[in-house]
Amino acid sequence: MDIARTPATPDGNIEMADAAFEPKAPPEIRREDYTPFPWLVPATHLTFELGLEKTRVTARLEVERNPAAEVSPTIRLNGDAIELVSLKCDDGECAGHMIDGDDLVVTLEGDKHTIEIVTEIDPSANSQLMGLYASSGMLCTQCEAEGFRRITFFPDRPDVLSTYTVRMSGPKDQFPILLCNGNRVETGEDGDTHWAEWHDPWPKPSYLFALVAGDLVARTDSFTTMNGREVELNVYVREGDLDRTEHAMESLKRSMKWDEEVFGREYDLDLFNIVAVSDFNMGAMENKGLNVFNTKYVLADPETATDGDYDGIEGVIGHEYFHNWSGNRITCRDWFQLSLKEGFTVLRDQLFSQDMGSAPVKRIEDVRVLRGAQFPEDSGPLAHPIRPDSYREISNFYTATVYNKGAEVIRMMRTMAGEEAFRKGTDTYFDRHDGEAATCEDFVKSIEDGAGLDLTQFRRWYSQAGTPRVRVDLSHEGDEAVLKLSQTVPDTPGQTDKQPMPIPLKIALFDRESGKHSGEELVVLDKESDTFRFGSFASKPVLSINRGFSAPVTIQRDIPGEDLVFLAARDDDSFARYEAMQDLMVGHLVSASTGVLSDADRETGRRDIVRALKAVIEDEAIDDLMRGELLSMPSQTYIAEQIEAADPGRIFDEREALKGFIASELKEELHRLYDRSEKLPYSQSAEAKGARKLKTLILTYAAASDPAKASELAGHQYDRADNMTDRQGALMVLTGIDSIERTNALIDFYNRYEGNALVIDKWFALQAMSLHPQVIEHVKALADHQDFTMKNPNRVRSLYMAFAGNPHGFHAASGEGYRMIADLILALDPINAQTAARFVPSLGKWRKMEPGRSAMMRAELERISKAPKLSRDTFEQVTRSLG
Ligand code: TRP
Ligand code: ZN
Repeated sequence: MDIARTPATPDGNIEMADAAFEPKAPPEIRREDYTPFPWLVPATHLTFELGLEKTRVTARLEVERNPAAEVSPTIRLNGDAIELVSLKCDDGECAGHMIDGDDLVVTLEGDKHTIEIVTEIDPSANSQLMGLYASSGMLCTQCEAEGFRRITFFPDRPDVLSTYTVRMSGPKDQFPILLCNGNRVETGEDGDTHWAEWHDPWPKPSYLFALVAGDLVARTDSFTTMNGREVELNVYVREGDLDRTEHAMESLKRSMKWDEEVFGREYDLDLFNIVAVSDFNMGAMENKGLNVFNTKYVLADPETATDGDYDGIEGVIGHEYFHNWSGNRITCRDWFQLSLKEGFTVLRDQLFSQDMGSAPVKRIEDVRVLRGAQFPEDSGPLAHPIRPDSYREISNFYTATVYNKGAEVIRMMRTMAGEEAFRKGTDTYFDRHDGEAATCEDFVKSIEDGAGLDLTQFRRWYSQAGTPRVRVDLSHEGDEAVLKLSQTVPDTPGQTDKQPMPIPLKIALFDRESGKHSGEELVVLDKESDTFRFGSFASKPVLSINRGFSAPVTIQRDIPGEDLVFLAARDDDSFARYEAMQDLMVGHLVSASTGVLSDADRETGRRDIVRALKAVIEDEAIDDLMRGELLSMPSQTYIAEQIEAADPGRIFDEREALKGFIASELKEELHRLYDRSEKLPYSQSAEAKGARKLKTLILTYAAASDPAKASELAGHQYDRADNMTDRQGALMVLTGIDSIERTNALIDFYNRYEGNALVIDKWFALQAMSLHPQVIEHVKALADHQDFTMKNPNRVRSLYMAFAGNPHGFHAASGEGYRMIADLILALDPINAQTAARFVPSLGKWRKMEPGRSAMMRAELERISKAPKLSRDTFEQVTRSLG
């Protein structure tokens, strides 16, 4: 035990950690250093005397030596920014104790003890939103990953499982509702205070603890499980929000049913509560029996929520619910195993959403998220394997790599095994590890045994970072199609000379004449290069590869434009068809914005694209949701990713020019499509959603060719809108055009929704995302708006995340966008470090930029790194980004 840093206090004096002496470089935690905790904590009793400004916590821990660990003379209880009021061992004096940094280290001589700790906290001063905090008059908690130590001293690590009994008391009028994990066992009153006692029968790690106290109302419903057990369901919100909870409740019931049917998982308590809070660092949290949600992922009605919001709610409700098995019943041994629960649970929520709506469109959306967020991470200074090897602050590893690439890795196992065998694998996993804190290795082994797969080499997906690149060459030899594949896995920070990975690629070979193929095949490239032969073909077929995005890789191939036009028009795999359309546009825009395109080639490229889009518009076999995907242009960020030393200004100009060209060439067709879409009345049907998607998409095209006309059309759509999807879409287009309609619509929107925080978030975000030339001035003015606050993460993200993701503003040639984000990070860091650190990656892309911007971005990172006091979160991200 390292006790050298603070003087031992044998007389029992308590010394608080002095934040001013915090070392500049927080220690690096390494996966290979894992050792089991020397103590078990079979039972934890917590008593909360609740108050917004002062909450007193009494924790009684029953501890005993862990037979599986080395014997230790002490127990280390983690703490963070809390005050120790008193300490007892076995209801008397402890043999010894000391404060070591933030931790409390207690000497324990016997094998079994009770430790009683009293702490006092001020929830109203907790702006980090970790631990117990106040949010618009109520009290709530967020303990993942290391927030429990801000409530009491505790072995705050996921492999210490304990059974919790909690008694909470507080003023009746202020906190009429008192909630905790598990079941409510007793309640009572005592004058103006009341209390409730809760018991959670399932042993859990501290990060799954939750408590909520406040003036809330619930939508109540019930669900009967596959074994006939009745579960009470509640969605708790603030008074005025009740009529916006129906979709959340329906999504919850669908999730419960789906998990029974698809994964055989039944819910295991008589009560399931969801609480919506408006101040929250992330989307939601899977606390046992008491999920806490960002209001953004609960509240919806057609007037205030878009189709995207509805889908987001369904997906996040599913995600948190599915964690009950993949995360709670089986949790993580240590935080390096985070993808064990997150990767798997993201896959589960993706499959759920696929089954609830349009599977092909959901797959395309998920790939877009992966490419937009994870690919850049994997190719930049923050790249890490889905199971990282080290960290300084675990909050920084709740990443697209751990979540989304983690899901892709498990999806590949499913693709290779087939659905049925994969289910045998997950059954094995749930059977074998129920009640445990498991590792990624445990998961892989279970799938291996249950599904009958050999995943020896596949394990490299857990240890190697970087997006593999697959080089594809198809030739025609005799009557055979010969497919040559080779792979490279790029170097990433701290990792070079990588081993080949098994890459499962679904392929189909199309006959040019008939436009058909004779069946999809799965090839697995597990060597550096390999050749696959297919017969028999009279002429060279057209290759459709990585169908359904069967592997999270980049495909590199020389394919003629006409073959892409062919696939874009008729590939029967929706993802591959979308991909062909995107390739066509990306290829063109990359050449155009790097200056290797002759005027003649530019013309041919544009004509190919228009031809393919026209076929998509006229295709009667697809629905409008899919049509919308096929008609969407690749994002500026995705195009930039394909270019070394990208010049965002040029990409922007070329992309807008192509948009304008398409809009004028397909004017009639797009008009007709708009008129047809406009006729459908509002509903949540796929058809109506598709129509709404098309309407706004068409407006974005129109804006690039005829802004005045587009402004008029968008103004019209805005005025007539009877739902948020149409209204937000119209306003989005309008914010990019300097017009009277813009001004009017922005004023109207604000007045209409003043006081509705989630909609006002949209108002901020739309302006920060806009293509308007003065976007920087707009963002500056909005930062001074009366409704802007640094204390609310949703509001901060709605202004600044939106801006950092707007290449047009963020990458302004003056460098002003970079400065604004750096200033924001510095100002936000002391308030909410977790949220502040999430802005660092945008500046971390400096290596990929042209020299001028690159230097300015780096300089901003350096400026941040020199700040006198940085959080662990921001310190780690800035240091890694500077590389
Ligand atoms: N486990 C949560 C999820 O479902 C993630 C999460 C919620 C979280 N709040 C957090 C992670 C705060 C870190 C900090 O994905
Ligand atoms: Zn999760």
